[in-house]
Amino acid sequence: MAELGVNIDHIATLRQARLGIEPEPIYAAAIAEQNGADQITVHLREDRRHIQDRDLKLLRETIQTRLNLEMAASKKMADIAEEVKPNTVTLVPEKREELTTEGGLQLTNEHKAVITQLQKAKIEVSVFIEPDIEMIEFAKKIGADAVEVHTGKYANLKDERSRKKEIKRIFNAAKKIKELNMRVIAGHGLDYKNTKPLVELDIFEEYNIGHSIISRAVFSGLAEAVSEMKIIVS
Ligand code: PXP
Repeated sequence: MAELGVNIDHIATLRQARLGIEPEPIYAAAIAEQNGADQITVHLREDRRHIQDRDLKLLRETIQTRLNLEMAASKKMADIAEEVKPNTVTLVPEKREELTTEGGLQLTNEHKAVITQLQKAKIEVSVFIEPDIEMIEFAKKIGADAVEVHTGKYANLKDERSRKKEIKRIFNAAKKIKELNMRVIAGHGLDYKNTKPLVELDIFEEYNIGHSIISRAVFSGLAEAVSEMKIIVS
């Protein structure tokens, strides 16, 4: 049975649109947890466009499941993580002009320092990368505990043949991650339709899903949106 991480960045995006106090991401986390979320995921971006430092601190205090912090692989962000102590840090690429995280992280030897710093603080380190065997092997080499496979390409493919091909690539990547004894996670662009074929591979331990859940919540409420996704992944 796989676990569900609910990304609540969009709740903060809506609040930041008016720079006000609602909707409150802390409430969203509580409702998500009450309806089956096994983890709350947030991305503290360097430009603070949605989640704020205050959210991160309050979430750490109030979350009763696990906190997964997505962040750029910089020393400055690692220092914040060291202080807040999320259960997991997911290292992601970050460009200021992008709408959302585009493509996986290109890992280099320079990432090793951040990984070691976080692990010394007893934080699990996951890396968000493309389903690429060489990159997965490199993730292991520099000490990652987990790999989150970027499923964005799969999610954007329209025709069935290309989708099947990409699912195969994702499956081979997931197998390799498992063989290397790292936790195997999937995320990005997953929705109420395209998640199921990945669940059927019966290999991912966790899914991190945001946009589709929060979009559905606008119409049906967050409780229902989370519990429906929980049924799909488990
Ligand atoms: N996983 C990672 C590493 C991400 O950066 C994101 C987007 O913030 C997600 C999962 C969630 O993606 P989506 O909002 O498309 O479900």
